[in-house]
Amino acid sequence: MKPCEIKKGIYWVGAIDWNVRSFHGHTYTTKRGTTYNAYLIVDDKVALVDTVYGPFTGELIERIRAVMPVENIDYVIANHVETDHSGALPAVMKLCPKAKVYGTSKCKEGLYRNYYEKWDFQEVKTGDSLKLGKRTLTFIEAPMIHWPDSMFTYCREEELLMPNDAFGQHYAASERFDDEVDQCALMDEAVIYYANILWPLGQIILKKIEDVLRMNIPIKMIAPSHGIIWRKDPMKIVKAYMSWAKNETKRKAVIVYETMWNSTEKMARAICEGIKDSGVSVKLFDIARSDRTEVISQMLDAQGFMFGSSTHGNDMLPTIAGFLEFLKGLKPKGRVACAFGSYGWGGGAVNSMESVLKEAGVNIAQPSISVKYVPDTGELKRCYEFGVNFAKMLK
Ligand code: FEO
Repeated sequence: MKPCEIKKGIYWVGAIDWNVRSFHGHTYTTKRGTTYNAYLIVDDKVALVDTVYGPFTGELIERIRAVMPVENIDYVIANHVETDHSGALPAVMKLCPKAKVYGTSKCKEGLYRNYYEKWDFQEVKTGDSLKLGKRTLTFIEAPMIHWPDSMFTYCREEELLMPNDAFGQHYAASERFDDEVDQCALMDEAVIYYANILWPLGQIILKKIEDVLRMNIPIKMIAPSHGIIWRKDPMKIVKAYMSWAKNETKRKAVIVYETMWNSTEKMARAICEGIKDSGVSVKLFDIARSDRTEVISQMLDAQGFMFGSSTHGNDMLPTIAGFLEFLKGLKPKGRVACAFGSYGWGGGAVNSMESVLKEAGVNIAQPSISVKYVPDTGELKRCYEFGVNFAKMLK
């Protein structure tokens, strides 16, 4: 397995996980697989920036060996504790026990609590640097992007930023660079990644990007820890992150529902028509048949959310309930939403959905709409008008 020289003397030595289809437990579906990116910087001293997920240790070692003996590594930079980047660290440290590990104080604590090894560890803070020879690495703490230990590593001489999870995508490809892959697929994966992992961290991300831009460090290449490296126009992804972090939205609505005997589905379709006929872009998903990861990514730039459920046991159905709980954790800001649903006798689904929406901090745009048993023509007309009225509230 060959490394890829991304700059003179700097090699991608990571691993490609073509077949992974779920991530972070099962909270994220990875339809295009992923990569675990690690970078080997060969200078008077040799630094390895991050490792890979444990099962891919052999791939990492093989790629490093194609450049030089693994035992020659002097420093391992641990930008992030999470196991998809540190899993191979114990094996690397066994091969080069004199290597020094660099990371934040939270990283030191996290690595110990994962591996219970006492490696030679150098704690670093923003602005600390490590001279390798012709090149110097500078560290930038990035707490909560997306773990407390997270850190960026920057090489000024190469104008290269290695921000670990930030700016990444779960995208397995034989190509390494943004100008070599399908642009739509690349941005699609970048949006999915941001929406499902980073959405609740917008304010922290925005501040960190502004801090880094104020540091006035030139950036010609962004090499994240997942997916494709940005070299064609690295500021493209930075600008996209700033827009997402500011919660910039468009006149777009996303309808997410779950139905038992299709009454709620009939309501959803009538509402959808009302929104569409009002000139607002709308997406409709039966969450029981849809990929939650994809649905969340469609919500990132949508101003309005609409949730529907049949009533079961005086509550909403379980798949939409799980979806709303997940959405609540993403803390969407500045959106409007409302609920609809069908019931047979007691009802309860719309109230439950509205409660979760309030907890999520989403503004309830209009009172919910409910239909007993199967909607008749008049009730479907009412659903259509419900959609038209909702569309008027979207800016
Ligand atoms: Fe936070 Fe890719 O791990």
